[in-house]
Amino acid sequence: MEKSRKNMENNFTQFHRPFINDEEINEVVATLKSGWLSMGPRTIQFEDDFRNYIGADYSVSVNSWTAGGHLSLEAFGLKPGDEVIVPTMTFPATAEIVYYFGAKPVIVDVDKDTLNLSISEIEKAITKKTKVIIPVHYAGQPADLDEINQIAKAYNLKVIEDAAHSLPSYYKGKKIGSISDVTVFSFYATKTLCTGEGGMICSNNEEFSERTRLMRMHGMNRDAWKRYSDACSWYYEIVAPGFKYNFTDLQAALGIVQLRKVDQMLEMRKHIASLYTKELCGNEFISLPVIKSDRETSWHLYPIRLNLEALKIGRNDFINELKDLGVGTGVHFMPVHQHQFYKDSLSLNNSDFPVANDAFERLISIPIYPGLTDAEVTKVIEAVNHLTKKHSR
Ligand SMILES: Cc1ncc(COP(=O)(O)O)c(C=O)c1O
Repeated sequence: MEKSRKNMENNFTQFHRPFINDEEINEVVATLKSGWLSMGPRTIQFEDDFRNYIGADYSVSVNSWTAGGHLSLEAFGLKPGDEVIVPTMTFPATAEIVYYFGAKPVIVDVDKDTLNLSISEIEKAITKKTKVIIPVHYAGQPADLDEINQIAKAYNLKVIEDAAHSLPSYYKGKKIGSISDVTVFSFYATKTLCTGEGGMICSNNEEFSERTRLMRMHGMNRDAWKRYSDACSWYYEIVAPGFKYNFTDLQAALGIVQLRKVDQMLEMRKHIASLYTKELCGNEFISLPVIKSDRETSWHLYPIRLNLEALKIGRNDFINELKDLGVGTGVHFMPVHQHQFYKDSLSLNNSDFPVANDAFERLISIPIYPGLTDAEVTKVIEAVNHLTKKHSR
């Protein structure tokens, strides 16, 4: 709090600021006054609102994407020794959940333009042990879902979409969350709908959904909040060794209000993206995100790539100089295969990931979020243009 206030006073444009207004604050206060702090009526309302917004049959809220991914693999019955295909351009949580089962994440390279799962790499990675594919919709742009679902059908594999970045995104006119077996969203603090921490599992499969609902709450055959409401008795039984992964009404208070504005927030991010694209497309020292014509991105991120061959500066120094000019940035992502743990435990060869390696050296995510002013966007554009000119070869 103190730091962010200082940043604002110093005129520093942060990489991200949550878009929380009085509406959210009032709903949180009303929740505190209501007496239901953990999972309760607001959680149920948020699940219903979310399912209706997405157009999925079932929605189960959880305390993070990571928990939702874990429960999804559990419901699919992942076993030790099974393999799960994961793109290297993601936050490591996408791969980490596979380890929980003694199974093996098979990390693959990505498409040069979109940094999404490469279809040819998936086909090369499939073995008799492959059970699941987890496509990540990098920065918000949907992966090649038709091809991925076709491959999954041909090899009898499950698909869990990692939609941590894609609320809302569209693939061939359909909202992400309504297409594959299972889609998991994240409501982490920097995401397009934020509840601090949180996630949602959307699916069109009742049995799957019921299993995740059971396992998010200790494997209890009756939700805890119902035990304490007027209608129900104290009695419950544990029918499986589950987890403590539930969402809370305090988080739902934020989620319900944020969901009402999610389309409006998308428009705000689209506006910023269009300014960046218009003003930076003439800069030959960088390349901009490539969005395929049959899909729409949530614009969770706006990752630019430096044309290093034409510059005398590397990515990390460029980021430091942007910071000196009052612009905060991020890097999405250091590829999974470059993290020491994954490199060692999976005996990965850096040379097997030429596309991700090349992109990683160049990537900088510049600020994009509702509440970023046009003046700040102009400042970011000017800072990028100034530094590329200053450091051009
Ligand atoms: C692509 C991707 N997948 C999964 C996650 C994990 O989400 P959570 O923090 O809600 O567990 C993140 C979080 O940054 C992410 O970016």
